[in-house]
Amino acid sequence: MAQNTKKISIVGSGLIGQNWSMIFAGAGYNVCLFDVDPAQLERAKSNISSTLQRYEKDGLMRGTGTAVEQSTRVSTSTSLEECLHSTFYVQECVPENLELKTKVFAQIDNVIGDDVIVASSSSCLVASSFTEKCNHRDHMLVAHPINPPYFIPLVEMVPAPWTKPEVMATTRTLMEEIGQSPVSLKRECPGFALNRLQYACINEAWNMYQSGLLSAEDIDKVCYDGLGPRYAFIGPLETMHLNADGIVDYCKRYAEGAVDVQNKTFKPIPTLYDVPTAEKIQAEYNTTMPLDKIQNKRQWRDNRLAALAKLKKEMGKN
Ligand code: NAI
Repeated sequence: MAQNTKKISIVGSGLIGQNWSMIFAGAGYNVCLFDVDPAQLERAKSNISSTLQRYEKDGLMRGTGTAVEQSTRVSTSTSLEECLHSTFYVQECVPENLELKTKVFAQIDNVIGDDVIVASSSSCLVASSFTEKCNHRDHMLVAHPINPPYFIPLVEMVPAPWTKPEVMATTRTLMEEIGQSPVSLKRECPGFALNRLQYACINEAWNMYQSGLLSAEDIDKVCYDGLGPRYAFIGPLETMHLNADGIVDYCKRYAEGAVDVQNKTFKPIPTLYDVPTAEKIQAEYNTTMPLDKIQNKRQWRDNRLAALAKLKKEMGKN
């Protein structure tokens, strides 16, 4: 992959800003990273360089060129104007706060030209809530990554009512080009798609735990040794299609039973503000995953996600 001379701007140099920087740099783009905190910007630059070197050593680095070459594609700036100069795509990565995102989008709006696309990494806030007053709002959208984005490729693209379809299409092409896996929501929807599915799963996990049906450990196992491996390759609708002679046959054979289980035994959505239950689950985890070891477990998780990402890449899409 040749060095791409086009420039990408990243606003906010925390966890997600650093991940986007490495992904775009790996795809050959020149990346300029901006942050209001100059010390954080220094840390981000040094983290990016050491992380890429570690990934290179472990055979996990994406894209082309050495870790040093990829790192040199990432520059930093303490001036938003300089960071956005001659850019064609901005990925905003500031903390999830409506007032802050509204302010930052207004600042970006004041500096960019008419063709620049500005995507927010927002995990909850919808684009209409912070882009309404922007002059370039038809070029603004949410492009929500999943942590850790370097190894989990999904990006949820969510338009505001005023986002142009061609802006969605261009962003989708860009995401595919850099090796991410975009999905396009047709309109704004709280929770986007991944969290809506995840909430459904968490709700039933919570209700099963609360009713004493299984331990927390066993509920987690149902996912990581059951649903999880399957869903790493095929989705829930495809599963229906493959588990019978097509999805129509599945519905004829199994729908009644599935709806019956839910109608007769599913409980209402649990209140997750349920601290006593959370404390019971945490007490169970304290033996296997105490809070002072949680960082090690995160690292363990990321290493496994990295290995899975590598395997899936080697196996190809189909
Ligand atoms: P973070 O707290 O690690 O980084 C935010 C960075 O923004 C900090 O370096 C901070 O100095 C900087 N910042 C604050 N105000 C700024 C401003 N006015 N202009 C420029 N930079 C500014 O946050 P993180 O985790 O990277 O999250 C960023 C966004 O990504 C949030 O919207 C979050 O919801 C979303 N997201 C986070 C995920 C996660 O697991 N952490 C996953 C997916 C999305």
